[in-house]
Amino acid sequence: MTGVEVDGVAVEVPEGAPLLAAVRAAGIELPALCQDDRLSPAGSCRTCLVRADGRIVAACVTPAAPGATVEAATDGLRALRRDAVEVIVSALPSRALTEDGRTELAHACRSVGIGPEVAAGAGGRGEDTSHPYVHLDRDLCIACGRCVRMCAEVQGTFALTLTGRGAETVVAPGTGGPWVESDCVACGGCVDTCPTGAISEPGPAPGLTTAVRPAPPMTRTTCGYCGVGCALDVVAEEDRIAAVLPARDGPVNRGHACVKGRFAHGYLTSPERLTQPLLRGEHGLEPVGWDEALAHIARGLRAAIRAGGPDAVAAISSARSTNEENYLVQKFMRVVIGTNNVDNCSRLCHSPSAAGLTASFGLPGGTDTFDDVERSDCLLVVGANPVEAHPVIGARLLRRVLRGARLVVADPRAVGLAPHADVHLRPRPGTNVALCHGLAHVLLTEGLVDDEFLRHRAAGLPELTGLLADYPPDRVADLTGVPAADLVAAARLYGRAERPAIVYGLGVTEHLHGTDGVRALANLAILRGAVGTGRGFGVNPLRGQNNVQGASDMGALPDVLPGYGKVTDPAVRARAEEVWGVPVPPRPGLRIPEMFAAARAGRLGALWVIGEDVCATDPDANRVARALDICPLVVCDELFLSETARHADVVLPVASWLEKDGTFVNFDRRFQRVRPAVAPPGRARTDFDTVRAVAEAMGTDLGCPTPADALAECARMSPHFAGLSHRRLDREGAVCWPCPDPDRPGQATLYRERFATADGRAHLAAVPHLPPGEQPDGDYPLVMVTGRRWAHYNSGSMTRRGGNLALDPVDHLDIHPDDAVRYGLRDGEPVQVISRYGRARLIARIGGETAPGQVFCSFHFPASGVNRVTSDHADTVTSCPEYKVTAVRLAADGAG
Ligand code: FES
Repeated sequence: MTGVEVDGVAVEVPEGAPLLAAVRAAGIELPALCQDDRLSPAGSCRTCLVRADGRIVAACVTPAAPGATVEAATDGLRALRRDAVEVIVSALPSRALTEDGRTELAHACRSVGIGPEVAAGAGGRGEDTSHPYVHLDRDLCIACGRCVRMCAEVQGTFALTLTGRGAETVVAPGTGGPWVESDCVACGGCVDTCPTGAISEPGPAPGLTTAVRPAPPMTRTTCGYCGVGCALDVVAEEDRIAAVLPARDGPVNRGHACVKGRFAHGYLTSPERLTQPLLRGEHGLEPVGWDEALAHIARGLRAAIRAGGPDAVAAISSARSTNEENYLVQKFMRVVIGTNNVDNCSRLCHSPSAAGLTASFGLPGGTDTFDDVERSDCLLVVGANPVEAHPVIGARLLRRVLRGARLVVADPRAVGLAPHADVHLRPRPGTNVALCHGLAHVLLTEGLVDDEFLRHRAAGLPELTGLLADYPPDRVADLTGVPAADLVAAARLYGRAERPAIVYGLGVTEHLHGTDGVRALANLAILRGAVGTGRGFGVNPLRGQNNVQGASDMGALPDVLPGYGKVTDPAVRARAEEVWGVPVPPRPGLRIPEMFAAARAGRLGALWVIGEDVCATDPDANRVARALDICPLVVCDELFLSETARHADVVLPVASWLEKDGTFVNFDRRFQRVRPAVAPPGRARTDFDTVRAVAEAMGTDLGCPTPADALAECARMSPHFAGLSHRRLDREGAVCWPCPDPDRPGQATLYRERFATADGRAHLAAVPHLPPGEQPDGDYPLVMVTGRRWAHYNSGSMTRRGGNLALDPVDHLDIHPDDAVRYGLRDGEPVQVISRYGRARLIARIGGETAPGQVFCSFHFPASGVNRVTSDHADTVTSCPEYKVTAVRLAADGAG
């Protein structure tokens, strides 16, 4: 810390902090119109002038030197600052300073005694209202450059620039045209930092930013889109969302957000929102009251049990619901129905992570926090496109790279980080295991391994060494298509780094051998001793949905109870039975694909689908729909009449993440609170209330009257969560699991003393490369890969209802120019994608992002039918679908 004296008051600030921090620590407020704590200082507006050791300086750019003497509150300095603000304001039109103005500029003017009459500029520079979320009023721009720096330094998009000279200087998209056609990805950073309202969010509360003082009443919650876990402050006016602001003290997002969390809340008030239960009658789904819907469900569940026993009932819980809701769903199935037939959509994304990481290290989560990963000097990013799918993490990774970390990207596509990579490996889809073995081969043969770690903390080296003899770079080049020299270069970067870290995504898991892919990746960290040692930051999955980690943590899985104790283990069951007071069925239940198969075979009498649009997101969607149509009772909790809801017998209207209470667990095992900012519409209820109500209709009180009670009960069942409670999270904000003790911090970094395996060692896996389930051939010569686009989320039910649709309105099929020529396709042309399972209709987009022989599309537009094309091949260990490899052919739309 550095000691400084400000107007006679001794203060301490962190080393390297600017004088501005010292002045604020002394309780003196200064205008600082070009400064934002999230950004590098510019020192251009001169509104923060102070005298330090006799010299007039800008406090924002002058470091606080030890022992410095600072004057800040003298009349002379106040006058200087007032003059600086007045010069700026006098060039602005009068609307810049209304009496009740709540911008940072308005606040600064009030603090230095400048009234609205000073704003007397002519204006006339016009507006840019082309973008649905970001409006530019050029007349209010003071050219402070905060937006430009936010876009470059925090978001890493470099979409904005300052143009013009002198007083005419104004912010503009770097591409020159309308904002909506620029490179802007609508993270909202520019809106959030703008001190004047020149860049603002249109809507009920324009100009609302985290810089507004005093801040309006806000609800702190956790984002319900991807698994990053951004902390958000929600401003509601008259029970409608007025703005969603990124929390500056958010442990993961640190004052940043993305186009989804920040802006995509328009769906809440969509006229298509379900507001009352629907029951299938003579004329299809018809509105009914809750009592009638619940009675029908209870009758159907009893009939299913009578006909086929408890195992004739199954539930798909939701990675979008809270932990407490997931806890209650699995409790309902085990306690009320008497079956372990409960699963969640981690089956379709990261179940191989859970299986692979558990086998390698002992626990089913990432090994380190992202704060650790960010300290890495070499990032290996595999099968992930965080710039689009996890934008806040993508931005943090890019920042780290721009500050000097080396980067290896392994992905078939030229994903967002690839242009910044030292080496971009582009393996053919389905060859990850061979790629990892090739890297491991180089680590071993070049002595880039940690012998001591391998001797004392790892197992399986002889077996792996034997296997790796078959994976020299030349052979791996043949298997994967990655040049041997690139493979060697990547291995040397990872192998020679002091603190390497691995981050990966669904490009690793969604394969026929996805679990093997995770284990082969884990091998690299083990060989390097880069896990559990502080000499590297392990292996870290980027979770897709907001609470996919938590849904599994809570035991919404067919083989484990809350906290991952096996249902086959009598001691685990005994602990649950003590808490629940009823026997727990010992036989593992059905996985999601097995549920559909059982339904098609006539063995399933009832299926409850909670918040998952399985007809849109699950593979081989035609067969999924058939399963739902055959099952006698399908109940669906939904926000909208989704594809799945259309096949249901009862549809229950439910609350969204902005309307409910509970917790989520993010991708680095952080529990964070979720709080309702507005009430659900009409008669919609939370999933939590829905599960309790169905239990009651079945004659059982599930206990846990509140979400806090549910987490408390879960904490009694599992040592991993024993130290967690809503009260603690309200106090501390975020706590990582494992957290066995209420009085001690959660374990953010795992395995510093021992691994959680039976022998305490990390386990290398000698798993051979095996071919994918789908292979291109003469009839289906291309490989289709699916994934996410930046503006949308999953089946798109939330992001297609609002401004995001304007940002990305078309369901594209990305295709390489060589293939476009080969198949006679033009950019923008409708195209059919045909596989052995079905066909989809998309719009061709020609570009170099995909490799020749591959096409890429999202699954955000169910009407296109992409998941009618994907196969039912699945990971041999966990049944995770092989979404990343489907053999297809193309045909002009209308052809066969
Ligand atoms: Fe210090 Fe602008 S805030 S010069």
